[in-house]
Amino acid sequence: MMRDLPRVHLVHGPTPLVKRKALDALLGVDLVIKRDDATSGAESGNKVRKLEFLLGDAVGRGATTVLTCGGLQSNHARATAIACAELGLRCVLFLRVADERANDPHAVTPAEALPRVGNVLLDRLVGAEIRYISRSLYADRNAVMEQAAAALRLDGERPYIVPEGGSNGLGSFGYVDAMREVRQQLDAGLGGGPAKFDVVVHACGSGGTAAGVALGAADAGVAREIMPVAVCDSAAYFEAAIARITAEARRLAPELGDPAPLAVDESARGPGYGIMGEAQRKTLVQIARISGVILDPVYTGKAFVGLANAIERGAIARGSRVLFLHTGGLPGLLAQGDAFEHDL
Ligand SMILES: Cc1ncc(COP(=O)(O)O)c(C=O)c1O
Repeated sequence: MMRDLPRVHLVHGPTPLVKRKALDALLGVDLVIKRDDATSGAESGNKVRKLEFLLGDAVGRGATTVLTCGGLQSNHARATAIACAELGLRCVLFLRVADERANDPHAVTPAEALPRVGNVLLDRLVGAEIRYISRSLYADRNAVMEQAAAALRLDGERPYIVPEGGSNGLGSFGYVDAMREVRQQLDAGLGGGPAKFDVVVHACGSGGTAAGVALGAADAGVAREIMPVAVCDSAAYFEAAIARITAEARRLAPELGDPAPLAVDESARGPGYGIMGEAQRKTLVQIARISGVILDPVYTGKAFVGLANAIERGAIARGSRVLFLHTGGLPGLLAQGDAFEHDL
C-alpha cells in the first residue's frame, strides 16, 4: 500500500554509505555513515525524504499553500520552503522565537526583524512567508496552523498542514524507504556487504525519522535495533512520540510488521535545544578535522556524542557494526559560527 501513495521526487538518491578509518579508530566500532546530508541541494537532509510523501499528498489533494512550523533555524522549515518553491506552492512558516509578544498567528513578521543567516536566509531566498510565534503559542502549534489554514481557505487558498518535523505516519515512510535503499546497497556489496547492522544511530528531534527507521530496518532486515539520540526532550517523551507515529504508519501501511526494538539515548541533550556544551563542541571540531565529516550543533553533532557515550558505557559493544545516519543540518551550523569562537 505504501508503494501506491502519491509522491513527489525530491531525493537525489541513493545517498552514499561511507567509511572513515579515523572514526573507527576513535570509537572502536565498525562505523558506516549513511550520507543523508546529501539527499539533495540546499534542501538536503532527512526532511526531504519525508516531504516526498507529505508534499505528494499535498499536490494530490490540489493544495495551493503549505503551512509548517519549527524553531527559528529549523531545517525542516527550510527544506519545506525550498521544495514548495520547486513545486510552485506558496509556503507559510511558523517559527518559534523567545519573544512572547509574537502572539498573533496571522501576523507576517516584517523583513527587518528577520535574520539573513543559516536556514532563515534560505527560507527568505525562496520567498517563504515567515510568521514568528512565541514559545507559549508554539505549545499549541497544531491549533495555530489550523486557525491560519481556516483564514487562508476564506481567501480562496487550499491549505495543507505539514506537522512539526514532517513527523507523522505518512512522513515516516520516507525512512521506511531509506532503509530499503540501504538494504539494496548492502546486497550490492556496499557498506561492508549484506550482514545486518547491530544498531542504527541518528538524531531525534520530533520522532518521525526514528519511527520510519525502526519500521524500515525491521522490514528490510537492515539492523537489529535502533538508537535515536534525543536532542532536546527526554527519552520517555520521544519513545511515546515514536510509538504514536509508528502506530499511525502501520494503520496506513498494514503490510509493515513490527518495528525494530528501539531505546532512545538521552545522554547528549546538552544545555538545551540548539545549544551544545563545551565538550560537545570540541567533539564536533575534532570529527571535522580527523574525518572531514561536518556535523551540526543542533542534531547530528549530538547524535555523534550520543553514539560515543553509548559505546563508552557499554550500551553499544566495541566491535559492533554501526550505521550512523547523517541527517544533514549544515545551515544550522553556519548560523552559529560565533558559538565556536573558543574552539577553533
Ligand atoms: C538535521 C536534522 N537531523 C535530525 C532531525 C530529527 O529528525 P526527526 O524530526 O524526524 O526526529 C532533524 C529535524 O528535527 C534535523 O533537521
